[in-house]
Amino acid sequence: MLLSYLRKRRILFLSVPLFEIRLTGTKYGCGGGGCGACTVMISTYEPSSKKIRHYSANACLLPICCLYGAAVTTVEGVGSTETRVHPVQERLAKCHGSQCGFCSPGMVMSIYTLLRNYPEPTPEQMIAALAGNLCRCTGYRPILDACKTFCKESVCCQRKANGKCCSDQEDDLFDKEEKVGANSLPLLVFFLFKVSTSLFSIDEFQPLDPTQELIFPPELMRMAENQPKRTLFFHGERMTWISPVSLDELLDLKAAHPKAPLVVGNTGVGPEMKFRGVFHPVVIAPARIPDLNVVKYTEDGLTLGAACSLSVAKDVLTNAISEFPEEKTKVFCAVLKQLRTLGGEQIRNVASLGGNIISRKSTSDLNPVLAASNCVLSLASRGKKRRIPLSDIFAGVGNNTITPEEILVSVHIPHSRKGEYVCAFRQAPRRENALSITNAGMRVLFEEGTDIIKDLSIFYGGAASTTVCAKQTCSALTGRHWNEQTLDEACRLILKEIAVPGSASGEKVDYKKTLIISFFYRFFLEVLQSLKTTDPYHYPGIPVEYGSVLQDFKTKMPQSIQIYQAKPDQSPQDPVGRPIMHQSGIKHATGEAVYIDDLPSVDGELFLAVVTSSRAHAKIVSIDTSEALKVPGVFDVISAHDVPATNEFYYSDDPEIVFARNKVICVGQIVCAVVADSDVHAKQAAAKVKIEYEVLEPVILTIEEAIKHNSFFEPKRKLEQGNVDQAFETVDNIIEGEIHIGGQEHFYMETQSVLAVPKGEDKEMDVYVSTQHPAVIQEMVAASLGVPANRIMCHVKRVGGAFGGKLLKSGLLASVAAVAAKKTGRAVRFILSRGDDMLITGGRHPFIGKYKVGFMNDGRIRAVDVNYYINGGCTPDESVLVAAVSLLKMDNAYKIPNLRCWAYACKTNLPSNTAFRGFGFPQSALVTETWITEVADKTGLSPEKIREINMYKENEQTHFKQKLDPQNLIRCWNECMEKSAYYSRKKAANEFNKQNYWKKKGIAIVPLKFPFGLGTRYLSQASALVHIYTDGSVLLTHGGIEMGQGIHTKMIQVASRELNIPMSSIHFCETSTTTVPNACASAGSAGTDVNGMAVKDACQTLLKRLQPIINKNPKGTWNEWIKEAFEQSVSLSATGYFRGYNENMDWEKGEGQPFTYFLFGAACSEVEINCLTGDHKNLRTDIVMDIGCSINPAVDIGQIEGAFVQGIGLYTMEELKYSPEGVLYTRGPDQYKIPAVCDIPEQFSVSLLSSSQNPHAIYASKGIGEAGLFLGCSVFFALRDAVTSVRNERGLKTTFVLNSPLTAEQIRASCADDFTEMVTESWGGVCSSVSG
Ligand SMILES: Cc1cc2nc3c(=O)[nH]c(=O)nc-3n(C[C@H](O)[C@H](O)[C@H](O)COP(=O)(O)OP(=O)(O)OC[C@H]3O[C@@H](n4cnc5c(N)ncnc54)[C@H](O)[C@@H]3O)c2cc1C
Ligand code: FES
Ligand code: FES
Repeated sequence: MLLSYLRKRRILFLSVPLFEIRLTGTKYGCGGGGCGACTVMISTYEPSSKKIRHYSANACLLPICCLYGAAVTTVEGVGSTETRVHPVQERLAKCHGSQCGFCSPGMVMSIYTLLRNYPEPTPEQMIAALAGNLCRCTGYRPILDACKTFCKESVCCQRKANGKCCSDQEDDLFDKEEKVGANSLPLLVFFLFKVSTSLFSIDEFQPLDPTQELIFPPELMRMAENQPKRTLFFHGERMTWISPVSLDELLDLKAAHPKAPLVVGNTGVGPEMKFRGVFHPVVIAPARIPDLNVVKYTEDGLTLGAACSLSVAKDVLTNAISEFPEEKTKVFCAVLKQLRTLGGEQIRNVASLGGNIISRKSTSDLNPVLAASNCVLSLASRGKKRRIPLSDIFAGVGNNTITPEEILVSVHIPHSRKGEYVCAFRQAPRRENALSITNAGMRVLFEEGTDIIKDLSIFYGGAASTTVCAKQTCSALTGRHWNEQTLDEACRLILKEIAVPGSASGEKVDYKKTLIISFFYRFFLEVLQSLKTTDPYHYPGIPVEYGSVLQDFKTKMPQSIQIYQAKPDQSPQDPVGRPIMHQSGIKHATGEAVYIDDLPSVDGELFLAVVTSSRAHAKIVSIDTSEALKVPGVFDVISAHDVPATNEFYYSDDPEIVFARNKVICVGQIVCAVVADSDVHAKQAAAKVKIEYEVLEPVILTIEEAIKHNSFFEPKRKLEQGNVDQAFETVDNIIEGEIHIGGQEHFYMETQSVLAVPKGEDKEMDVYVSTQHPAVIQEMVAASLGVPANRIMCHVKRVGGAFGGKLLKSGLLASVAAVAAKKTGRAVRFILSRGDDMLITGGRHPFIGKYKVGFMNDGRIRAVDVNYYINGGCTPDESVLVAAVSLLKMDNAYKIPNLRCWAYACKTNLPSNTAFRGFGFPQSALVTETWITEVADKTGLSPEKIREINMYKENEQTHFKQKLDPQNLIRCWNECMEKSAYYSRKKAANEFNKQNYWKKKGIAIVPLKFPFGLGTRYLSQASALVHIYTDGSVLLTHGGIEMGQGIHTKMIQVASRELNIPMSSIHFCETSTTTVPNACASAGSAGTDVNGMAVKDACQTLLKRLQPIINKNPKGTWNEWIKEAFEQSVSLSATGYFRGYNENMDWEKGEGQPFTYFLFGAACSEVEINCLTGDHKNLRTDIVMDIGCSINPAVDIGQIEGAFVQGIGLYTMEELKYSPEGVLYTRGPDQYKIPAVCDIPEQFSVSLLSSSQNPHAIYASKGIGEAGLFLGCSVFFALRDAVTSVRNERGLKTTFVLNSPLTAEQIRASCADDFTEMVTESWGGVCSSVSG
């Protein structure tokens, strides 16, 4: 594939390596076309039209052979710091659109390609261009801010030079801005701080000048014009690629190789070969054959060649729709609708129409609509041509199979006729760039001038293994009127006819069935409404309150605003408190930022691939490596026997294990590893290792099973205050319930990566790792190898996202690589594939909260008794601590006078779960907010009233007797209420709900108290090392890890303030155990707090030494003072140290001071749901956050937004699925959906609370990495509010449980109606089977 070629490939000439391309800017994120990290621009020249076409594509799926004659532009070609930084790169960085930076090159390439085609794109084009790019850090808002600066139409908010938002006058979202200062700031502070909404200044940006772009290589143009087209053959190690130029030749080839696939976009064949072990020795590439690229308008429709890309099809249809009368284009419109959301732009640019049709995947969005619309396929084989309606293939009519020798030449899409109506529908786990759960194509033709059905076609995708036709239903309904009776009968017939088989992967049978008939109902409504336009007298159309369901949710360019306080009187040189760009921002955007797999190869380097357990609990009977060792290039197989010293690490009673020894305890556990001369060989060999198992009992996968088997990690934790039992006797009401919260995959964009390099003497080894905790890597690698820690040098320049997932897990993986490096004496590179990373490394703990809550009729909660169970997986990791933290933070913002809570960490046979942003709090606080909402349901009061009544109000104590001043909590709540105009919007939502039956709005506001602390002093100690060189430049290092949170940028800001020199004089190189020993993990939001103190300390030490020199020459320059200091033999190097916070917790007594301070916040979110599909749209979110005095508002707001969007993922869409045997199914972005651009609120505002001080942390700031994640649950509760409104209207039970993630499936199930009733299977299972 192009990606591996770009990143590593050596160009061989006569078997001698000539040069390495090594363009490492293009990143590997998933290898399957799902994340966009590998986006490049492909340019081709068409000599007949003399047109150059530029399109974005995923390099990970693009076969290098299909690029003959094409130009490839990677991020390096767009711009670099060595030459010129391109405006796209500059603006992405300066608008703070990169955090960890791993997605940035892909983002740049998507935007750049769009601009090459449309220098002034519309916001819609821009947002569509990014649908195929995922970012796990930013929450997309700043990326879109950068995009907006290129858009023709002004979109809020491009920050006018005066710092005011362009839509101040237009939208109430922004017109609160001035009032913030006036209403809520004490007078003194109002003068000290200025409210600011500008995180960047567009005045600084270079203009986009299309004339400066790289031209299409003239030699390729000449080649295209002069060279006659001839068949191309490419022979690889195992495969042959043949690219013919004529149809006859293609047919001959196909006859000769009937099993050879025709590869056009490779988006179907590629993933099969990569992930499902399919192998094709011969591949035929028909893309250059003119007959397969034809675009022809005919009398009765449009003919498109099978090799036309889906983008070309989309453009052609768009044009046709604008040119032909509406009556003729209903099929075109329906097909176009599917094309808009099919894959991302990179996929559509290469995937072919023919490929989509022929692969006949059940999930094809095109087949149902094309089949329903009577599209006709032109097929050819040697000596034979035929045309068959696509519908025949799926409806089982006539000679309906396509033989292996046949190829699809073209597809004819007919015009629609008078009295004909065509629709297409789809519902996917995410609105864009996600395969459908179910889709449909439907067409009806009426007898002229009537509503009598003459011809009806209904096709579904997603229901069975391929597209299916409701043939009998259609013929039974022919001749019937289009009315309610027909609808009712149609639904019953469809349900009877369309079998939806259950599948091993736990498919959503009931949901699919409901969608199938809901889609038909939607079609029914569409047609009724259309009939009305033809003859309003006879056809009254649909009730007005049904109208809105005919509008699909669309992704719009979001509007956003960020509010923070700037200090107008601050010295211009002092960068603290300013929105400074990420120190590596430009390098992220140019692709120059180096991650582990970008490091140049070391001489003799080997590649490592792991062999993992396929059983959840089993004895290893034998391991047969003989076949693996025969694979070319294989060096060795490494297992537990090769570990020189520690293979099992005992941080508690149960061990963390490097290689499984004798038995396996989860699917995905590393059993052994293969090292070979390339990653391809290592993976091929790993697949050939045979392991024989003997299954052991019990196999415990879920929390329920762990409870049954009493399988827990010790200790269990408990907290209690007041007298719970007594309180329950005096309350008016008691509710009991439970909520299940699913786990979450970290989905850092850079997968776990290690490069272990033995240094050849004294057992020294350099270990380059993508980790949050270099010291633990050093410790674990040293212990595994049995050498002192002083021989292991761990280096971390930056990490492409971590979120808690790169702590202990990285240590174990580093040990695997180090043991292999030690055994072979070679450098070993170990980069986990996305699939292996998701399989092996665990994530956020699935959670069950069981609660009993006693409360008074006026809403006062008096007693709470809760039990939390978390699924820890097979080893302890930090599960007991996560459980404990979930107890300490469970009160969120509420005073609960009588409380008893227990937390249990369940030991199961799933991969071990670990730390994840929020560390137990996002789960336990969701449980709390759930019972708060239930109390509201029971008392008839609103949820916000229950929240207010029970909120901490004055100086109080938490349930573990720590003092708490909630003043800023209340301020955040009130400000959020005001900024969001909560009550008026709630009223408006209610009004909307009254007027709309199938669409409902919901709104919710949720408070946040996030305690900051790590529980013990030693965990928050930190060190820094600062050198000043004689030219005045400063090299800074500290123990913190840069993983996107901007810690190095902030540390340079701190050093700049302390030393009073510009940031540009200070450099940060890497975090390393050689410069800062024993550093604590960068975790728990504490990085800036603790390392900032250490950096400040080091700088102050230096300044103290320099002071006499400065005093002597106060007008001197920094360089003069440094020179003088050197000449006076003053040491210009200093360490700084911070001892840590005095935190403690006595679990015996259930009291302590485990936290140092509290962050506060509130978020209000509004959503709209589609009751027929369960789909939803995030309309608006307002966040107010107290983070003290921000050191860098751009970075901090970025953390809040990024965490919030990750929270949306956790609570509403990210779903891990396992087989009954404990095999994780969701192993890539195709199956596991994290939020994309389409998921962020259409209006998004973040305000930092003014005049908040924090005496405990550096410059009165607060650690902000984690807190915002929980606020994602405001969307969860807004959805719940919308569902409640549906249920109230329909007279359904008021008490209902919604689990997390609150997916479309659950929403649909909760909006029970005639359709759900028709679906025979019970819905009960849906809610209770989600997590565990
Ligand atoms: C990340 C991702 C997201 C996707 N999202 C969606 C989605 O939302 N909706 C959806 O419907 N699809 C989706 N797809 C599937 C995608 O649309 C299809 O894989 C694509 O259309 C196939 O076209 P291709 O040219 O890439 O096929 P290839 O992989 O090149 O070929 C696929 C198959 O079609 C056969 N074939 C191709 N052309 C011909 C021909 N002319 N005659 C006979 N046989 C032929 C080949 O032999 C091969 O077996 C997605 C795919 C990916 C990777
Ligand atoms: S790496 Fe290519 S799309 Fe993810
Ligand atoms: S900045 Fe986008 S993934 Fe990290």
